[in-house]
Amino acid sequence: MTDYRHVKGSYWLQTAPGPSRPVLAEDLRVDVAVIGAGIAGLSTAWELARAGRSVAVLEAGRVAAGVTGHTTAKLTALHTLIYDRLRRTRGAEGARLYARSQTEAVEHIAEVADELGVDCEWERRNAYTYVHDPSRVAEVRAEAEAAREAGLPASFVTETGLPFPVAGAVRVAGQAQFHPRKYLLALADDLAARGALVYEDTTVVGLDEGEPCRLATDSGATVTARDVVVATHYPIFDRAMLFTRLSPRRELVVAGALDTEYDPDGMYITPEQGTRSVRTAPYGEDGRRLLVVTGEHFTPGTGDTPARFERLADWATEHFPGVGLTHAWATQDNDSTDTVPLVGPLHPGTRHAYVATGFGGWGMSGGVMAGRLLTALITGEKCAWSELYDPRRVLSAVREAPAFLKHQAQVARHFVGDRLRTTPEVDAVPPGEGAVVRVRGKHAAVYRDEEGEVHALSARCTHMGCLVAFNAAERAWECPCHGSRFDTDGKVVQGPATSPLERREP
Ligand SMILES: Cc1cc2nc3c(=O)[nH]c(=O)nc-3n(C[C@H](O)[C@H](O)[C@H](O)COP(=O)(O)OP(=O)(O)OC[C@H]3O[C@@H](n4cnc5c(N)ncnc54)[C@H](O)[C@@H]3O)c2cc1C
Ligand code: FES
Repeated sequence: MTDYRHVKGSYWLQTAPGPSRPVLAEDLRVDVAVIGAGIAGLSTAWELARAGRSVAVLEAGRVAAGVTGHTTAKLTALHTLIYDRLRRTRGAEGARLYARSQTEAVEHIAEVADELGVDCEWERRNAYTYVHDPSRVAEVRAEAEAAREAGLPASFVTETGLPFPVAGAVRVAGQAQFHPRKYLLALADDLAARGALVYEDTTVVGLDEGEPCRLATDSGATVTARDVVVATHYPIFDRAMLFTRLSPRRELVVAGALDTEYDPDGMYITPEQGTRSVRTAPYGEDGRRLLVVTGEHFTPGTGDTPARFERLADWATEHFPGVGLTHAWATQDNDSTDTVPLVGPLHPGTRHAYVATGFGGWGMSGGVMAGRLLTALITGEKCAWSELYDPRRVLSAVREAPAFLKHQAQVARHFVGDRLRTTPEVDAVPPGEGAVVRVRGKHAAVYRDEEGEVHALSARCTHMGCLVAFNAAERAWECPCHGSRFDTDGKVVQGPATSPLERREP
């Protein structure tokens, strides 16, 4: 068994901490307000500033420290297995537009990094989707063919750089990887140099979609803007009920130093075993590499996270001999019901509110693509793939009904079923653990800290009222319905919730 517990959090955050930025303290008027400073929000803000718009970015936490600060940072148009599905659901042209939009986004990052003179550890690598199971070889063969038809330099291979045999793989040549924070912190600095305003610790709590739009923030200051971009990962102010088309998926990451001779020299992913994703990055002065392994995905609030971390750490050390784990972290992304991100107008009736979400584990290229697409929509330019990603696309019975119904059934099961579950007594919650218990007839989220003190909160998620569950490995309350997360004092650490869990008397 590999002990992952002594290791630290996100490597990207630790190696590029970045400066603090101000809290919004006074009312503001700009052309465009962008809510959220992940890769989608920052890319949008940067493109808009370059197009001459005055822009304010409002970030509840720190810049590029949400999902974007905890990613794997592969830059590729090969998104596991998507092209065979896309050519069936969106036609050959849809698949081609997807491939082109994602490829252009990858190349755009290289151009921008060059323009800004930033060393973001950009490296060209081939991308692979592999399978072990011989019965799945037909799937990767079909994917290779569909990706090639879509215009990517794709081929079916049976040899890879991985230290174990595979039954088959799709390889797409000439993709890339980078250090996401080194790139995005430079983008944020350049935004400031262009006169744009970037605020941290500023949570947006209200949106009035008038002409102009008005945003309320938790500090009391307001922002008036002609256009608003909701780039909060899971959308807040969800008037189109996009939450019915998005399911959150939490995933774990472990990383550690690897001797160069074991570098698999590529970026790999398999849909098997709850996903295994592998890349390496430059590490330290002695030329070693950092191995980054991702996998074990689950719905937030439903996983035995410590056991999953152990499985992932064991897999990494078993397959990459000599790797010493130094980092472990977790994060989540949203899958859309038809596997295509939702980028465009926030709802059918809107004229000035936009959204970027549903990146399905591929929001590095997807976030940059979103920035360019939303800038085209806001500045009135044409974009060949606006229809492909339009969030107002009609729910398709063929392409998304099964995923849609499954997600709704899951939410209903959590909303009702979790309330019927028997709960322990407060006294039965051990130190360092949390559980939902009944206190005076109501569900309370009870955490007992290492000193024995009990912290009690309402267990009703402030988004839509599902019951939260405790994640022991990360000491957080998680909502299984749409993925909101709260710390042990009830503070929101991840939306769509914008209000904290209320305190309760234990
Ligand atoms: C384990 C894992 C590995 C991944 N690896 C890859 C990969 O290799 N390649 C790839 O392409 N993609 C990858 N992804 C996906 C990619 O990381 C995400 O899709 C992308 O980072 C999402 O960016 P974002 O800007 O939408 O969200 P975020 O980075 O989360 O940004 C949203 C921001 O909005 C802020 N916010 C939220 N609510 C408010 C509010 N009310 N007011 C103000 N601000 C608010 C948050 O604090 C946050 O900073 C991976 C995902 C996971 C889970
Ligand atoms: S995140 Fe929607 S109910 Fe909790």
